[in-house]
Amino acid sequence: MNDIFSVDGKVIIVTGGLGQLGTQFSGSLAKAGAKVAIYSRRPFSRAETEAKFPGLSDRITVYHASVQDEAALRAATDELIRTWGVPHALINNAGIDSKPSGPAEQNGPFETYPRQFWDEVIGVNLTGVMLCCQVVGPHMAEARRGSIINVGSMYGMVSPNQALYAYREKRDGKPFFKAVSYAASKSGLLNLTRYLATYWAAKNVRVNTVTFGGVKTANFDKEFIDAFLQRVPLGRQAEIDEFNGVVQFLASDASTYMTGSNVVVDGGFTAW
Ligand SMILES: NC(=O)c1ccc[n+]([C@@H]2O[C@H](COP(=O)([O-])OP(=O)(O)OC[C@H]3O[C@@H](n4cnc5c(N)ncnc54)[C@H](OP(=O)(O)O)[C@@H]3O)[C@@H](O)[C@H]2O)c1
Repeated sequence: MNDIFSVDGKVIIVTGGLGQLGTQFSGSLAKAGAKVAIYSRRPFSRAETEAKFPGLSDRITVYHASVQDEAALRAATDELIRTWGVPHALINNAGIDSKPSGPAEQNGPFETYPRQFWDEVIGVNLTGVMLCCQVVGPHMAEARRGSIINVGSMYGMVSPNQALYAYREKRDGKPFFKAVSYAASKSGLLNLTRYLATYWAAKNVRVNTVTFGGVKTANFDKEFIDAFLQRVPLGRQAEIDEFNGVVQFLASDASTYMTGSNVVVDGGFTAW
C-alpha cells in the first residue's frame, strides 16, 4: 500500500527550491529517492548545494533559471532531460509577495497601488508558472505522463482580511493594506490549473493546485499572529514541514486519478 506514495526514481522539478518551503520539498523528495532539479533565479554551486542538503547533492541539482526567463528555462530543461530524462513532476513553487516592510505605497490603499508592483508579482507568480508549464509540459505530454503541482495560497481563494492588518495603522500612524497583486496572482493559478488539466488530460498529464495556509516563521508581529490564529480553526500556523506530504502525494502514483483539483491545506482558515 505504501508503495503507491513512492517517488523513488522520479525526476521532479522544484522552482524556487532554495526558499523556505522549496527547501523542504526538495530535501524531503530527494530523501524519498527522487532526483530533484531546482530552478533558481540565482546561481548556486554544487558545494553550496551539498552544504544546504547534506548527503543529497547527487540527487539535487540546482539550475540557474528564473521562472521569468523562457530561454533559461528551456536550456535547463533540455540539460535536465539529457541528464536524468523527462521529468515526472513539476512543482511550481517560486513566488513573491509584497513585503510588509516594503515601501509605503506597496502596502498602501488600492487606489494608489503602483502598477510596477502588480507587474512584478503577477510576472513571477502567474506568468512564471505559465512559462514553466509551457516549457516542461510538452515533454510530459509526449511521454504521456506527468504531474504539475501549482503552489497556491488561501489568499487565492478568499480575499486577505484587512482587519488582520489594522493594528499596523494604529502602531505606525499610516494606512496599511495587504496588497492586491498576490491574491490576484494566486487566484489566477486556480483556473490556469483547470485549463491545463483539461488541455493535457488526454496526454495523461495531471495538473493540480495546492492551497497553503500560513507557515510558522519568526518574522510576524505578535499582534498579527494573535488576530490570525483566532481565524484558524486548528488554532495554529503550519509547521514548516507540514506541506511535504501533500506535495509527495500529488507527485506520486497515489494521485493518478486527480487532476484539475485544488487541495487545501490551511488548518481550516477557508472553512469558516
Ligand atoms: N510561507 C507561507 O506561509 C506560504 C503560504 C501560502 C503559500 N505560500 C507559497 O509557497 C511558495 C513558497 O513560499 P516560501 O514561503 O517558501 O517563500 P520564499 O522563502 O520567499 O521562497 C520563494 C522562492 O522563490 C524564489 N523565486 C522568486 N522569484 C523567482 C524567479 N523569478 N525564478 C525562480 N525562483 C524565484 C526565491 O528565490 P530567492 O531564494 O533567490 O529569493 C525563493 O527561493 C510561494 O509560491 C508562496 O506564495 C507560502
